[in-house]
Amino acid sequence: MPTSITAVDRDGTQHSLAWEEDQTLMEVLRDNDLPVLASCGGTASCATCHVFLDEAVATRLGERSADELELLEEAEGYRACGSRLACQIEHDDALDGIRVELAPES
Ligand code: FES
Repeated sequence: MPTSITAVDRDGTQHSLAWEEDQTLMEVLRDNDLPVLASCGGTASCATCHVFLDEAVATRLGERSADELELLEEAEGYRACGSRLACQIEHDDALDGIRVELAPES
């Protein structure tokens, strides 16, 4: 069974999406036509895949890399705990049911 997530776009609309094992979280959003530019192609260098996660989920994912954190701190709406680059989040069955919110465009 694919993992399912709820994505909230910048208008507040919720989308139920299937997360396949070979996708990063950024790819799930982009491939379902949500407005995630992903201009760097997932190499943690553009921040256009900035998302907010619930704090409990973000904590479970562990520390962000120094590069990820540096980009996020410059991004619009940065949240010390919940901000993540979706391209840096690999599929994990344990993430089934999470809610992910698109951050404002930088
Ligand atoms: S897609 Fe560019 S930082 Fe994630």
